Amino acid sequence: MNRSDLDVTSAARPRNAGVPPMEVQQDARLVVEGACLRYGELDVLSDLSLSVGGTEIVSIVGPSGCGKTTLLRCVGGLNQLNAGEIRIEGQRVEKPLPTVSMVFQHFGLFPWRNLWNNIAYGLALRRAPKEEIERRVGEAIELVGLKGFEMSYPHQLSGGMQRAGLARALVMEPKLLLMDEPFSAIDAQTREQLQFELLRIWDARPTAMMFVTHSIDEAVLMGDRVVVLAGRPAHVRAVRAVHLPRPRDRSIVSSPAFINLREQVWHDLFDQPAANGARTQ
Ligand SMILES: Nc1ncnc2c1ncn2[C@@H]1O[C@H](COP(=O)(O)OP(=O)(O)OP(=O)(O)O)[C@@H](O)[C@H]1O
Ligand SMILES: [Mg+2]
Repeated sequence: MNRSDLDVTSAARPRNAGVPPMEVQQDARLVVEGACLRYGELDVLSDLSLSVGGTEIVSIVGPSGCGKTTLLRCVGGLNQLNAGEIRIEGQRVEKPLPTVSMVFQHFGLFPWRNLWNNIAYGLALRRAPKEEIERRVGEAIELVGLKGFEMSYPHQLSGGMQRAGLARALVMEPKLLLMDEPFSAIDAQTREQLQFELLRIWDARPTAMMFVTHSIDEAVLMGDRVVVLAGRPAHVRAVRAVHLPRPRDRSIVSSPAFINLREQVWHDLFDQPAANGARTQ
């Protein structure tokens, strides 16, 4: 597990205070180096650097509109940088790579296809052999707990859209999974259930993951590190290493270590340094 500890104190200082660029592990599975992106006149990403290890979950939090989705789209090869570089296993990203899967808030599932056909879609596009499609789709469906619902349509299941979206990404056996607020549009109970299901799935098949969320709790629960972005333009304000044991279950959210980290990320995000680590909530 890649658990690089970064200098959070200096990283949290204002960007114009001469802070050195964020340390990046050059041999990590994903390396983003000095990423800059503009939409017309709007500077969205500015000199943004980070890395994600081969079996590391990096959570990304930041204010609404700061550029989180844009960053994921760049990593996914859907947007091109104006400066800087993104590499996945050393390969420069200039277009979508088959080794990367993305899961968005709105999953873009085809409502007219049943679960099996939705999940098989990507493999069929790649013209994978029929037997391989059958095997991999079956495994992915089992992994996300949808066995028995293969012929159902996405809207027919509670939480079924999210699970199917996840299965559709996992079936590609990605080396990097990009998650953009995957659970933000669902009710709190289903969300909590799916968070732990995703953790269980990751335990079974660990891979590199970028997990964008607006929930500080979710960021800490999922992540090996939490990257806090500030905007605009988006840059890395702080990085927190999450030294919480895995596998993680519900008991972890009431542990002092979890509560302390949540507090630190809150201050990173809202720019209110806690005096002597004192709690303010
Ligand atoms: N295709 C586009 N053309 C022009 N501007 C865009 C485009 N996509 C996004 N933007 C702008 O870029 C900025 C960053 O958008 P982005 O969606 O990446 O933010 P975000 O951090 O994901 O926001 P949220 O938390 O609301 O999801 C915003 O100001 C947005 O209006
Ligand atoms: Mg977004």
